[in-house]
Amino acid sequence: MEDRFNTIAGWTLFSGIVALGLASLSGHYFRADKNHRPEKMGYAIAGVASSEGGAKEVPFETLLASGDAAKGEATFKKCASCHTINQGGANGIGPNLFAVLGDKIGAGRGGFAFSGDLAGKGGNWDFASMNQWLTNPKKFAAGTKMTFAGLSDGAERANLMLYLNAQGSNLPLPAAPAAPAGGDDAAAAAAPIVADAAKGEQSFKKCASCHTINAGGANGIGPNLAGIYGEAAATGRGGFAFSDALKAKGGKWDDASLDTWLTNPKAYAAGTKMTFAGLADAQERANVIAYLKNAK
Ligand code: HEC
Ligand code: HEC
Repeated sequence: MEDRFNTIAGWTLFSGIVALGLASLSGHYFRADKNHRPEKMGYAIAGVASSEGGAKEVPFETLLASGDAAKGEATFKKCASCHTINQGGANGIGPNLFAVLGDKIGAGRGGFAFSGDLAGKGGNWDFASMNQWLTNPKKFAAGTKMTFAGLSDGAERANLMLYLNAQGSNLPLPAAPAAPAGGDDAAAAAAPIVADAAKGEQSFKKCASCHTINAGGANGIGPNLAGIYGEAAATGRGGFAFSDALKAKGGKWDDASLDTWLTNPKAYAAGTKMTFAGLADAQERANVIAYLKNAK
């Protein structure tokens, strides 16, 4: 009797250990490629659930939206043996990289002697070309002088590009391919991010020092935002004195324009009066936009 009890207890313990091992193993596996994304929550990434290699297919636009420039700064240590990135920094083995995103490919940079292959590419660096270059420099320009193997991790490249972009470039981030467009259920289902208006209401506390959102609410440092979704930018709002920069943008507030605006107001309209750094987290922006949509 006691024997059998020990056997049962033994197997129970054993299976517990196996389960624990599997849990920690899969934890490692899923963290391997995707960095901090799972914690960031709620992403329904097309392809990931169905295929094991899915993480590699996450578009760089999506990775940029949820990326982290501070992590990119850490990665830049891999580049710093050859590159400076401060404004006016000296060329070394490679050219100084201040404001390189948006600038000409393989040109300028204080007369740096580029390889013929990179100089011959033409065009300007954008996120797409930079993503290819950093994946595999030799594949991008066969005869390049940059003897650097490349970064195989898409999230690492995205973080690095966010860091590069913050050093004098400040290009607007490209829209994530499946960004919520119409706001209807079908579009939301295909979107990489599932918005949560209730969480958006929580985040709106960051805005409430400057904005009311109830219908007929007073303007403060910023305009009242009731019914802002779908309305013309920088007009009406009880005669609020908008900046010329935002007035000049024109257009209507929709998912795409609100997302760019809330990512980085100054990048959207350089002379804006909205002194708000922006919401770096794509999920949080989507939540706030969903909340704005409901606030009529
Ligand atoms: C071993 C030295 C070395 C390392 C490490 C290195 N680079 Fe380079 N980089 C170069 C050289 C040399 C060039 C010029 C390439 C050419 O002319 O073909 C270059 C060119 C570039 C350019 C093109 C600049 C322009 O004006 O068109 C960018 C962007 C760049 N590197 C980014 C990086 C980043 C980001 C890293 C780190 C992930 C990195 N490099 C790591 C040596 C290096
Ligand atoms: C420090 C004050 C401040 C904070 C915080 C702030 N805003 Fe603003 N906001 C402004 C000002 C000022 C303007 C007018 C900008 C201009 O004219 O350039 C504005 C304009 C806007 C507009 C455009 C309105 C229109 O009619 O075109 C939207 C949308 C907006 N803010 C949303 C938000 C959201 C959402 C948040 C929080 C995530 C936020 N703001 C945080 C001050 C602020």
